[in-house]
Amino acid sequence: MTTPTPISLTRTQQPAAKPDDASLSFGKVLTDHMFVMNYTEGKGWHDPRVVPYAPLSMDPATSVLHYGQAVFDGLKAFRGADGKIRLFRAQRHAERLNKSCRALCIPEMDVELVRRSFEAIVEADHDWVPHAKGTSLYIRPTVIATDVMLGVHPAHSYTYFVICSPVGAYYKEGVKPVRILATDNHVRAVQGGLGEAKTAANYAASLSAQQEAEKLGYTQVLWLDGVERKWIDEVGTMNIMMQIGDEVITPPLAGTILDGVTRNSILQLLRDWGVKVSERKVSIDEVMQAGRDGTLKEMWGTGTAAVVSPVGELGYKGEKIAIGNGQTGALTQKLYDAIVGIQYGTAPDAHGWTSEVKVPVAA
Ligand SMILES: Cc1ncc(COP(=O)(O)O)c(C=O)c1O
Repeated sequence: MTTPTPISLTRTQQPAAKPDDASLSFGKVLTDHMFVMNYTEGKGWHDPRVVPYAPLSMDPATSVLHYGQAVFDGLKAFRGADGKIRLFRAQRHAERLNKSCRALCIPEMDVELVRRSFEAIVEADHDWVPHAKGTSLYIRPTVIATDVMLGVHPAHSYTYFVICSPVGAYYKEGVKPVRILATDNHVRAVQGGLGEAKTAANYAASLSAQQEAEKLGYTQVLWLDGVERKWIDEVGTMNIMMQIGDEVITPPLAGTILDGVTRNSILQLLRDWGVKVSERKVSIDEVMQAGRDGTLKEMWGTGTAAVVSPVGELGYKGEKIAIGNGQTGALTQKLYDAIVGIQYGTAPDAHGWTSEVKVPVAA
């Protein structure tokens, strides 16, 4: 048996005041510590450590600032009703971060060490995991290229860091449907591109379409494929699912969309429950037609931030389709309750998706 790489810990001497759980939103408050590890050519990934949260100092010529060689991921830690802190599908998030690294020519890390980096930072900042119902600690692992020189090429040095932010309940007054707009003016990703990686460029590419949708009163963009502009890809920063008749349909993992951890978990639950599930191409025309003839029963986005986000209205080429009278559908709500139950330890975790973070017991 090999001994696991030790992760050193330097505690902050100036812990910050923690905000009230009731005041939490998303991503605005950051915790006391961060995890850091470096890569240099010849030495590989080295020096994993938890240190006080601090700005990164960077030369203006640092390659990530110019050429966007950067990947990230996002997962959460939950404080359960039993007081235990659980990570949701940490291993899968660690594997996906490495997959994103491969897509951007970033040297892969040891998946086990990445998984332990999530545990180490949550252990150090366990006091920051909020207590109120629906709150959580969002964990943001990121890798950036740190070569100091101009020129497009894979860098020879990188920094991996993990920061955390306590976040408020996504739904403060119950799960609420949103309005989404299918766009064929903009595309987010194409096959052979970066759509299945979680990389900064994809989010930069989404901004102008999102701004346009908001101007028209919509919450999110429903992305269509980049070639024919008819096949549904994703919604905003979530995967998309819909129930037409008795079939739940979600676009396949074919290179343009992210392999969502929530998507994967929900597909598993639906199969467990005996629901007919198809991972297949679905066109915007099929969905609009199902909306017109009443067979489109429910539609929802899936992602770490919201778990599920029901769609109450779909707009496309000036036409608007109302889904489920603007109410959250029964299946959407059941899925939300099932995932949240597992995350907070109030429902059995049949697939072993959660892992407990052991925190030091006060002397
Ligand atoms: C583009 C995109 N698609 C889908 C998802 C949903 O993925 P997950 O369920 O792993 O959060 C996210 C969020 O991470 C995303 O950014």
